[in-house]
Amino acid sequence: MSAKYQVHGDVAVITLDNPPVNGLGLATRQGVVQGLEQAQADANVRAIVITGAGGAFSGGADITEFGTDKAMAEPNLHTVISAVEQSTKPVVAAIHSVCMGGGLELALGCHYRIAAPGCSVALPEVKLGLLPGAGGTQRLPRVIGVEAALNMIVSGEAVKSEFIGAVPGQKLFDKMAASPEGLAEEALAFARSVADVRPLPLVRNLPCKHPNGDAYFQFARNMVKGMAKNFPAPAKCVDAVEAATKHRKFDDGLAAERELFIQLMWTAESRALRHLFFAERAASKIPDVPADTPKREIKKVAVIGAGTMGGGIAMNFLNAGIPVVMLEMKQEALDRGVATMRKNYEAQVKKGKLKEDKYQQRMALLSTTLSYDDLKDADLVIEAVFEDMGVKEQVFKKLDEVMKPGAILASNTSTLDLNQIASFTQRPQDVVGLHFFSPANVMKLLEVVRGDATAKDVLATVMAVAKKIKKVAVVSGVCDGFIGNRMIEQYGRQAGFLLDEGCTPQQVDQAIEKFGFAMGPFRMGDLAGNDIGWAIRKRRAVEQPDMKYSKTADLLCEMGRFGQKVGKGWYDYAPGKRDAIPNAEVEKMVADHRQSLGITPRKISDEEIVQRLVYALVNEAAHILEEGIANKASDIDVVYIFGYGFPVHRGGPLNYANEVGLFNVVQAMKRFAQNPLDDAAFWQPAPLLQRLVAEGKGF
Ligand code: NAI
Repeated sequence: MSAKYQVHGDVAVITLDNPPVNGLGLATRQGVVQGLEQAQADANVRAIVITGAGGAFSGGADITEFGTDKAMAEPNLHTVISAVEQSTKPVVAAIHSVCMGGGLELALGCHYRIAAPGCSVALPEVKLGLLPGAGGTQRLPRVIGVEAALNMIVSGEAVKSEFIGAVPGQKLFDKMAASPEGLAEEALAFARSVADVRPLPLVRNLPCKHPNGDAYFQFARNMVKGMAKNFPAPAKCVDAVEAATKHRKFDDGLAAERELFIQLMWTAESRALRHLFFAERAASKIPDVPADTPKREIKKVAVIGAGTMGGGIAMNFLNAGIPVVMLEMKQEALDRGVATMRKNYEAQVKKGKLKEDKYQQRMALLSTTLSYDDLKDADLVIEAVFEDMGVKEQVFKKLDEVMKPGAILASNTSTLDLNQIASFTQRPQDVVGLHFFSPANVMKLLEVVRGDATAKDVLATVMAVAKKIKKVAVVSGVCDGFIGNRMIEQYGRQAGFLLDEGCTPQQVDQAIEKFGFAMGPFRMGDLAGNDIGWAIRKRRAVEQPDMKYSKTADLLCEMGRFGQKVGKGWYDYAPGKRDAIPNAEVEKMVADHRQSLGITPRKISDEEIVQRLVYALVNEAAHILEEGIANKASDIDVVYIFGYGFPVHRGGPLNYANEVGLFNVVQAMKRFAQNPLDDAAFWQPAPLLQRLVAEGKGF
């Protein structure tokens, strides 16, 4: 039983006790119902208080029960709330710290609510593609008004209790406690003060009206349509709240909410969001590195190189209050790097996202140097110099000489062999890859590259550091491109074949953007710099001379069209603008190249474009999984969602492949292999994919 029952004089106190946030799991629900029964049966008890142990009233559903029979097992949350409503003695919710989702729905079922200041109150179900399914959409509008409730339900955002408590006419909180510390005492006193009130007040008996209902709900529907075009949940939230205003009987509104909730449960979008919710949490767990692995202390960070990546990397640590020393070869490179960082911060200040004093505090944590002597006291050093093994060798040999024992030596390399980099030092166990994504102060993804010798406590430490700087970290083994870039290369190859066969860059980009990608491959190339891929292909031409790829990207670079940074790439860009304008010269280059190959262009459907691009990712991912480069399929989805703009509502490439069905994915791949202009070897399904299909399983 994870709820405690105690009697304080004439008041029974039921304390939800299911750490960390008193999730309303089966045992907790049973505890509440049993506590209520005990209190009804005890003639000395005149009132009941429900509260939460530790740092929460309740965070809502117990996420460990998601997708299991326990989630809906009796007593389910509806039953618990009914039991509260039917109590013959007043039930007072004593709310503090966190009151969310099912926790708030439970509180709304109570006869009275007393809240401590500083409590976060929310119905966040929409963030999992759902709506509050235990009366939240029916009761919240009755206590804070239709519009305020709908805003909270559609956004899922938390509101502070003292803010709600100060709104005139609100009925969510009958009383605000003076302080969180005094809540327990005040709740007991409040419970005694209402012990004899009859009939007992219930939120369900309050009216629910909007003076201009039809117009308001139409407006709300238009709003959410524009904001959440790929997600059905916000619109269903509007329907549910509207039902609260339309049905004469409360229970009819409740039934409408239930129906809408079940509809959402079955949507691919909600499945994707729930998958990602768990995937993100699972990414921080490394199978052979236990959670209690001791960590090294990181009090100071050094960054080598103040270029595109170095400055952004440094900002992450400054933002988290960790001092950074940045090293360059020349003073002017340092000055340039620092100026860029200042420009970034100043832009945030201008937009009102950062206070001036905070900006100054952050910059005060930064020091710069041209001398390795100044790095001696750093606990973690991150190298972000040119992508050249010779340069990396010099830097790591030097770091090995100067860094204190136990310091972690990290490289931000995006393609080079981390094991080789580690071999330049006498301490390969302390070497790890920290692959940030550009812009490094913005992108959430961090690939943590685990070398053959990387020590477990180094991994545990960098995973904890990642959390501190608000990154989503995923562990990758050593291979060319790690998880993300190794997959994107195959995606890029398919994009090139599509040009050769008849597409324009614009057609390819539009098709995949319609699928939901933030940016198609050609716009992405322009943003990242087409010269980067060019350099990689030149290296590949030596390493794998037989690899087939479209020459259009090389021809583009020969035209000097390196991308946004030079104002022209696959598209043209007006100065300072990011809008991609199709360019006739590029289209002619593509057409001429096609003609030189003797290819008659054909019309290629959006569906084929999307399948070829996405299944290219899926097949490479299967190789990556099988080789143990990624620990689990969900890690790959996290990489693609947080680093590559894969559509969130599709849950990542492997979740999407599961939704399509791996059998269907492989069937399509076999079809593509028949295309003489494509590459049959490319479409050979990875052994893992074949095995999963044979076993009728998903990733
Ligand atoms: P960059 O060329 O903008 O900056 C490199 C900086 O390192 C320059 O300021 C240069 O003066 C400095 N530098 C070079 N040799 C040095 C040395 N021996 N000692 C001290 N400083 C030295 O390059 P960028 O784009 O910042 O890339 C840095 C690293 O990050 C590379 O390994 C790259 O592969 C990796 N990376 C780059 C990404 C990108 O989108 N640009 C994304 C992820 C990783």
